[in-house]
Amino acid sequence: MTSLTQSSAWLALKAHQPAIAKQVVCDLFKQDAHRFERFSLIFGDMLVDFSKQPITGETISLLLALARQQGMENRITQLFHGARINNTEDRPALHTALRSKEPVMLEGEDVTLKINAVLEHMAIFTDKIRNGDHTGYSGKPITDIVNIGIGGSDLGPCMVTEALKPYGSSRLKPHFVSNIDGTQLYETLQLLDPATTLFIIASKTFTTQETLANAHSARSWFLAQGGREQDIARHFVAVSTNRAAVEKFGIDPGNMFEFWDWVGGRYSLWSAIGLPIALTIGMNHFRALLDGANAMDRHFHNTPLEKNIPVMLGLIAIWQINFLGITSHAILPYDQYLHRFPAYLQQLEMESNGKRIDRDGKAIDYATGTVVWGEPGTNGQHAFYQLLHQGTASISADFIAPCQSQHPIGNHHQLLLANCFAQTQALMCGKNEREVRLELETGNLPIKWQEKLIPHKIHPGNHPVTTILFRKLDPAMLGMLIALYEHKVFVQSVIWNINPFDQWGVELGKQLAGKILPELAHDQPAASHDSSTNGLINFYKQYR
Ligand code: F6P
Repeated sequence: MTSLTQSSAWLALKAHQPAIAKQVVCDLFKQDAHRFERFSLIFGDMLVDFSKQPITGETISLLLALARQQGMENRITQLFHGARINNTEDRPALHTALRSKEPVMLEGEDVTLKINAVLEHMAIFTDKIRNGDHTGYSGKPITDIVNIGIGGSDLGPCMVTEALKPYGSSRLKPHFVSNIDGTQLYETLQLLDPATTLFIIASKTFTTQETLANAHSARSWFLAQGGREQDIARHFVAVSTNRAAVEKFGIDPGNMFEFWDWVGGRYSLWSAIGLPIALTIGMNHFRALLDGANAMDRHFHNTPLEKNIPVMLGLIAIWQINFLGITSHAILPYDQYLHRFPAYLQQLEMESNGKRIDRDGKAIDYATGTVVWGEPGTNGQHAFYQLLHQGTASISADFIAPCQSQHPIGNHHQLLLANCFAQTQALMCGKNEREVRLELETGNLPIKWQEKLIPHKIHPGNHPVTTILFRKLDPAMLGMLIALYEHKVFVQSVIWNINPFDQWGVELGKQLAGKILPELAHDQPAASHDSSTNGLINFYKQYR
């Protein structure tokens, strides 16, 4: 047993669980007219409603006691003050400095000075591209930006440019190439004119196989389609922490936008990795995105735990995962512009908290991160919600929706939100046998059919649901929303005593791919692996 699962706060929650498991959440509303006010929080124009969760006041008190036991306040302070909390890589995780309005000292240096210098570099470059001063080799303005990166160097910028499309320039179109599968690069380049295309090679390490392969192929395409070596500087820029590797690739360091090893890949969209965002929506909107995140940072840093939104969301996730047996978490944005948000949160949550060893190197005996997935409403309703309502899997869900649509057409937004609210209600209350019987009795079905259908029409309900509503999806609100999830993930990691800022688990596959690659270069059959891997390689060799 680990000290966490033997601790008094953990055991108290375990002892409390059976009482809650028996509760019908819908009934809790009948017992408490103020349940919504008690279990929801408002910050700025954002409302976070967790009153539909299977919790009582006692659950929250016990979760707060667990947070205090795990030193939550101290760990939050360490995060903001640049302590080396990424202890397996011996560095801070200072993404909050990227949006700070105050000086942030790290080893005697105010890092906001260099952050602001890079923001200034981005602003100058962004203005030149957007107003047409920086042209392509033929003298025409740049019309297309291709970001070549993967993981944190792709998902954040891609998600944000999609989410903030209404704020984008009609003259500049962003494209994202991440997959090593040449099809993605091919399909993207098909549409483009090299004379008006800017490539951003985005890689924290500048060693990532996928990104370097795509970058080399993009350069070859550029040269084959009419660009010359001397034109590369106008058409290729890099975003990285690795100046030497950028130079080796052939990009002038003057065309490099820098960031630092204390910015984790999946926390990097606020840094120069956000260059495609700034180019697409303009620097003022990019700064509004940073400001929104900074507002959530200050709330997280300064608000008592019981009123602290990221703390409450993190603790509720702990309750779901460790005490209610939830293994899968759906992100359900009722906003088409947030269609990449579930994919973005997949990396944020799963790469951060998919750990089985604690900060001290010991194996743990409790569940950590869940599988995160999702699709925008209402599409998901007609695909996978059936399993949420009546399947056997234990799944929790976050519903996310704006009160104002970017495109108010007819009553579409009312239809959308009616569905959103109804789904949160249906997942919580379900439909019991008495209600099903009453409903069937009012129909014209023969009694025999009514009886047959009853078990099929029962919805058990009691599914853990949180709803996040906000005024409008503008840059500042999106910044707040992303930072909220970043901090929620951190809160979970503090309770679990794991390091959310490393990702050793992605290494093994990379190493094995490195071994297999040379074997694919010749036609001799593979024999050195297990028979399945040999069989797959040999089938491929037969049919390639
Ligand atoms: O998938 C592993 C990972 O290291 C991610 O953490 C990171 O976001 C991604 O690869 C890309 O890394 P880089 O920006 O160094 O190319």
